[in-house]
Amino acid sequence: MIRSRFTGCGSYLPENVLSNDELAESVDTSDEWIRSRTGISERRIAAEGELTSDLAVRAGQKAMDAAGLTPDDIDLVIVATATPDETFPATATIVQAKLGIHRGCAFDVGAVCSGFVYALAVADNFIRTGQVASALVIGAETFSRIIDWSDRSTCILFGDGAGAVVLQASEGDGTIDDRGILKTSLRSDGRTHDLLYVDGGPSSTQSTGHLKMSGKEVFRHAVVNLTSIVRDVLCDPDLTGVEIDWLIPHQANRRILDSTAQKLGIPPSQVIVTIDKHANTSAASVPLALSQGISDGRVKTGDVILMEAMGGGFTWGACLARW
Ligand code: ACO
Repeated sequence: MIRSRFTGCGSYLPENVLSNDELAESVDTSDEWIRSRTGISERRIAAEGELTSDLAVRAGQKAMDAAGLTPDDIDLVIVATATPDETFPATATIVQAKLGIHRGCAFDVGAVCSGFVYALAVADNFIRTGQVASALVIGAETFSRIIDWSDRSTCILFGDGAGAVVLQASEGDGTIDDRGILKTSLRSDGRTHDLLYVDGGPSSTQSTGHLKMSGKEVFRHAVVNLTSIVRDVLCDPDLTGVEIDWLIPHQANRRILDSTAQKLGIPPSQVIVTIDKHANTSAASVPLALSQGISDGRVKTGDVILMEAMGGGFTWGACLARW
């Protein structure tokens, strides 16, 4: 059977670091409050004129280099983002052009913080049905542009960044020993719209708007939904006996990460955490954490990784893979 195998990974963070202490100069908060409630100590902020597509291109190029591929080798580009450069065209087509990819197709996936996991599932389906042989999947965000910087309950949480992977079709024997994506699972529930949304858009207000969030409700749903989707994946009889080496969660909040891992019985030493330095980078957070785990040598060839995320909508999803 055809499997979607990871052959490259890369990431990019803007240079500008914004610490909690610096934030506390403009809103009524403190380093101590932010660290204890969220686990965040700093975040990166894109420079003026630095767009989501610029971050995506930097991460995407590194992933292609790691895979040893040229622009002519890429059949499909998917960018997961909730902060596109423009209302249209898709940021993915802008990234495609900037990377010199003049073939195949490119489109965005909008599932907010779950976007990267959604995009992996889409790319995996394209590959396993034989429609494409390779895909560049990127999560990229400039959330700093949709934050109300006077709202201390939300502005402390987010940062900018991008992460990317290359997936390529490869032959597997259909067992849990195959390398590549073993299973994806996606869910959404649009009834929860009001708990996490941006109060603007082309059709509603003809403006971009700002992020609005009911923090406590998001927290509660996140732990329940993430735990249930991971259990859903692991209940698949085809995956009996699989052992997870690394949990690579969406970096929403340190307490959500810890509670979810604890409920799943995964020890902290097997959870890749970047929230302290990156904050919540929405669709970029999972590939940024994956990239961190690979570059520091924790995630090795043959390791089983479990990626999970939840975002506005709500949307949530999980992807189990052997690296
Ligand atoms: N600094 C200091 N005080 C603050 C701040 C701040 N930055 N923000 C809120 N407070 C105050 C509140 O005003 C409130 O004061 P009051 O008691 O006088 O009214 C008090 O702190 C407690 O506020 P709560 O909202 O109850 O604080 P809570 O412990 O719930 O923490 C937080 C808030 C961190 C947002 C938490 O609810 C949370 O992490 N929720 C999950 C949200 C999340 O992860 N969002 C990411 C996007 S969604 C996703 O990625 C899945």
